[in-house]
Amino acid sequence: MKKLNVRDIRKSKQQKLQVLTCYDFQTAAILNQTDLDMILVGDSVGNVILGYDTTVEVTLNEMEVFGSAVRRGAPDKFLIVDMPFGSYSTITQGIHCATELFKKTKCEAVKIEGAFPYQLKLIQRLTQTGIPVMGHIGLTPQSVHQQGGYFIHGKTDSSANKLILEARALQEAGVFSLVLECVEEKVASQISNELSIPTIGIGSGKNTDGQVLVINDLLKMGARTPPKFCTPIADFHQLKKDLITQYLLDQRH
Ligand code: KIV
Repeated sequence: MKKLNVRDIRKSKQQKLQVLTCYDFQTAAILNQTDLDMILVGDSVGNVILGYDTTVEVTLNEMEVFGSAVRRGAPDKFLIVDMPFGSYSTITQGIHCATELFKKTKCEAVKIEGAFPYQLKLIQRLTQTGIPVMGHIGLTPQSVHQQGGYFIHGKTDSSANKLILEARALQEAGVFSLVLECVEEKVASQISNELSIPTIGIGSGKNTDGQVLVINDLLKMGARTPPKFCTPIADFHQLKKDLITQYLLDQRH
């Protein structure tokens, strides 16, 4: 399968783009051999791999380490790496950190949460310097404390209007695609219909131009039940537990 580039992705409206997160070399090598369109090294690495309470704790160095590992495993996939919390609190810092991340991980794009005016300016600058940016609105986990928890966005008129304005502004600023996380289905649909760039939904209904899932939820790698919008295709947590328990028993006898 041909490796996608930003021009291909921009043209992929209604193509049902498939995106999965990934955090390690071996899984990346498997994904590299599939038809997956894009890999995201999300800062969800903090929750599912590092055991942090929130993504707020994730550092730039951690994103570089995990991003590089995935790059080595999946050289043939379009790779996006998340800018972690605190790495783009100002435009100058954002340019510096995005450039570091881009160079060290050899990813094709970075992802930035939010659409405040300074973030729009940063996105403009990054895209002008040659660093493609994926946007991310709705539930933005790095702002969990500011947003007051994890919930569906766009349920009221004012929240829906805010999301629509943010989506337009991000497209205008130059993002090549936009993640809509936990956005009310109708609003996600409206944004997807209006924008010329593809939207990638997670917990935002079926009408986005693509879907992204956290691979550890899809394979149920952890003890916790995955979010409602993700139906696991396996139960690796239980399988690993059973196999290790059996192995230990066999060794004893
Ligand atoms: O960090 C992440 O995995 C993400 C996806 C949920 C979009 O940002």
